[in-house]
Amino acid sequence: MAAAPTTTSTRVAYQQCIMPGCGASYGVEEVRTSCDACGALLDVRYDWDALPVPDSLKWFEQKWSRRNEPLAKSGVWRFHELLPFAPPEKVVTIGEGQTPLIQTDGVGDYIGMGRGNLFLEYEGMNPSGSFKDNGMTAAFTHAHTVGARRAACASTGNTSASLALYCCSSKLMQAVIFIGSGKISYGKLSQALDYGALTVQIAGDFDDAMQRVQQVSKQLGIYLVNSVNPFRLEGQKTIMLRVLESLNWEVPDWIVVPGGNLGNSSSFGKAFYELKQLGLIDRVPRLAVINAAGANTLHQLYEKRGLRWNGGQPDQKIIDGYAAELDSGGKRADTIASAIEINRPVNLEKCLRALEWMDGVVREVTDQEILDAKAQVGASGMGCEPASAASVAGAKQLREEGVIDPDARVVCILTGHQLKDPTATVAYHTADQEEFNRVLGSRGVSRAEFANRAVQVENDLDEIVRAIQLNS
Ligand code: F0G
Repeated sequence: MAAAPTTTSTRVAYQQCIMPGCGASYGVEEVRTSCDACGALLDVRYDWDALPVPDSLKWFEQKWSRRNEPLAKSGVWRFHELLPFAPPEKVVTIGEGQTPLIQTDGVGDYIGMGRGNLFLEYEGMNPSGSFKDNGMTAAFTHAHTVGARRAACASTGNTSASLALYCCSSKLMQAVIFIGSGKISYGKLSQALDYGALTVQIAGDFDDAMQRVQQVSKQLGIYLVNSVNPFRLEGQKTIMLRVLESLNWEVPDWIVVPGGNLGNSSSFGKAFYELKQLGLIDRVPRLAVINAAGANTLHQLYEKRGLRWNGGQPDQKIIDGYAAELDSGGKRADTIASAIEINRPVNLEKCLRALEWMDGVVREVTDQEILDAKAQVGASGMGCEPASAASVAGAKQLREEGVIDPDARVVCILTGHQLKDPTATVAYHTADQEEFNRVLGSRGVSRAEFANRAVQVENDLDEIVRAIQLNS
């Protein structure tokens, strides 16, 4: 690469229908979440030949010495050259993406990995406490470039917390968030309320809220920031860039990620596809997407019914048949991992494409497996919310099946911070069986093998000393 780009022309970025048989394209300045011609999702695409793309990923290291510049500091925008859809002066950043990749043998042993081979990408360290900030800074930047004054999302909690944070810290837009009633953890709800978002709690679950927010944002002309927004996924690509950066630009063997609305998995596929296309990596890791068993649409479709991207021709009959079953059975998503309690993932087709590009697999894990894995992550010193631990539980299952080799280099994505959902954590560790049953019993969680129970003791010096000696 000759010189660092200083400006970005909007002409070199555009939006395109993901279906190869359609391929309709739209300007980057248009606000849309689907193709007019066929209704499919859209990608943000670039004319790479007309752009100053680095010839090596190492090139990005020179940004580290410019950390006083907001764009070089951001863990998203220091990779601006790989998501060049907006001019630098329009970028809205709050320092997102300062996230570590941590190698941990404690969790590695639990999964059954060889020493030194298990890594956790700790996305809970983002400003709003989840990976969503990676995508929000990108969608928000696009919203700002088109002059939006209001932005909306449906959410299981983290997208709404992130949107509310970008709105209140930038003062550029009002946040309108749709949440299902009783379906969002207090940690996340408290963020949206504190950050001043207009919070619409509808009688229904996330799938209902998602449908409504699409209708309402269309009717009222509100900018939609759910991951049907293709700009969101551009930001989320950088999670993979930071993983590579932390591994000294070496490609790992596996990326394991929880699957809910399937935006992350879709964006990871796009990241690696583009890096390979640009000659910046020579191979692509394998992808494992992990559903909660109580919200397992992708697992059902991909592993049980054989649905594939099929070069851009997924079998619509399989998808429609499954949707009809959900409707007729009145089946609702139900899992302790409330962040991924989703039965109708909006990015299904994009995720199928990512699974094809990355030779992927899909697994489902029970709430019991999720909470046990979460306790292991906590004991390793990081901590995550239940949905995030699905990645670790899924990696363990794949290791036990022999799909993941103990010598492989595996990266599990911890999508959200431990403090997002303290109710689940405290219920797992509680010594109060009634409390345990109240929160977890209905989820089929019957034991807490890795619980760290508080010791109950009288307010008496001798008793306290004895309790400590007995337990240490
Ligand atoms: N992990 C966490 C902590 C999440 O909040 C989400 C999604 C996921 C995983 C799933 O990611 O949708 O890209 O497959 N939360 C959304 C929300 C739906 O509204 O906050 P995905």
